[in-house]
Amino acid sequence: MKILFAASEAVPFMKTGGLADVTGSLPGYFDKKHFDVRIIMPKYLCMDEKWKAQLRFVCHFYVNLSWRRQYVGIFETVQNGITYYFVDNEFYFAGDKPYHNIYEDVEKFAFFSKAVLEALPYLDFWPDVIHCHDWQTGLVPVFLRTFYGDQRCYSNIRTVFSVHNLKFQGRFSLPAVIDITGLPEQIFSSDKLESYGEANYLKGGVVYADAVTTVSPTYAREIMTPEGGEGLDGLMRAREGSLYGILNGIDIREYDPQTDAYLANHYNETNHTEGKGLNKLKLQKLLGLPVDKDVFLLGMVSRMTDQKGFDLIAYVMDELMSTERLQLVVAGTGEARYEEMLRYFAEKYPQKIHVTIGYSEELAHRIYGSCDAFLMPSLFEPCGLSQLMSLRYGTVPIVRETGGLKDTVMPYNEYEQTGTGFSFANYNAHEMLGVLRYAMRVYYTQRKCWNGIAERAMREDFSWKKSAEMYARLYEDIVGRP
Ligand code: GLC
Repeated sequence: MKILFAASEAVPFMKTGGLADVTGSLPGYFDKKHFDVRIIMPKYLCMDEKWKAQLRFVCHFYVNLSWRRQYVGIFETVQNGITYYFVDNEFYFAGDKPYHNIYEDVEKFAFFSKAVLEALPYLDFWPDVIHCHDWQTGLVPVFLRTFYGDQRCYSNIRTVFSVHNLKFQGRFSLPAVIDITGLPEQIFSSDKLESYGEANYLKGGVVYADAVTTVSPTYAREIMTPEGGEGLDGLMRAREGSLYGILNGIDIREYDPQTDAYLANHYNETNHTEGKGLNKLKLQKLLGLPVDKDVFLLGMVSRMTDQKGFDLIAYVMDELMSTERLQLVVAGTGEARYEEMLRYFAEKYPQKIHVTIGYSEELAHRIYGSCDAFLMPSLFEPCGLSQLMSLRYGTVPIVRETGGLKDTVMPYNEYEQTGTGFSFANYNAHEMLGVLRYAMRVYYTQRKCWNGIAERAMREDFSWKKSAEMYARLYEDIVGRP
């Protein structure tokens, strides 16, 4: 069976978030005897030179996007045994980052979605399923059904649309989108592409795809409720029969504390306290924090947005820092208000807080491989990948019970000595503070129990294997449908 992933980003070529980890690693986990999974994504000018140099030109052609006639170049490369195709057009993909503003992006991704479909005859790869990811590819199923339905090669194609984050929907003014896409006006109705007076790409994907998935079972339930539905809960309920929550995995070869090239000391579940302890001393030294193997070291690697719970942290940071013995290490980028807040606290508590604004793969791995615990107090979390990496590295996750965090972190039960982390229910700063204090109490006073939590965390299996099997079954199921 042939599967084509269509996405706006995929590791290692372009990454702004967890989406890229998924699209770039999941294809490698299908049984190669039965599945040929390839990826198509934009060829961004801002892609690293080392990747651009590796791409091979395949062909070029033109697509019509409404009244516009646009150049499409197709490039390809093979990375870790997976074929990646790239859509080239320097007008659309020339920016210094993949996404700029919704005004440019709606046209850019309408173009991309059209180009994906028009590329098929040139690739000599007719997929049984096009698996689309997030709003940027929402128009693929829409174009497919609207413009290509009467061509046999196309009408056999089935589509899956995966929601990685319902908050981002690709919404824009109706007349503009009708003009950009050339789609017939009558499909911009409330049961199809229209939503709250605007055109909505994600809605298009959800309505037109043969199956819809999201990245955890809990998030699948949450998006059917008014609280979690981001205005589309009614639509999600209407699609309940073909809405699947399939948990993300992580690339367990890349994230492996026994082999991780970024770690000075490797370890496994039987010797994690020593291995991690040594990494901790090195990290503290690197970041200019007091070197102390006994202090509770709490890590965060995160996009700095409201989704990730930084408001809770800001609210109780002083209380936490003035009363507790701990060090906090944070790495990531995002909204200026959160970056500034974190810089402010790092200056105020230089002995306790280190903040790196920026993303470094090395620092991220070293945080997972050195910290005692990992904080993820998300407001909402479709799946979350950092907690999976933390579990794998025996870095005890402290999370809010939402979306994928709820599905993957089992709260510590001191009576039964079970659980792989700590969690709190409400989006409330003092609830978070309470559970942080509880975790520190276990760490400082019941170290054996703490080590037990870390060990159980490391024994969990969040490889892609199970999820890939679920996607495989879903593909088989929809391809069998008339
Ligand atoms: C988005 C979500 C995150 C999810 C990721 C990959 O970044 O916010 O929760 O893990 O997509 O699916």
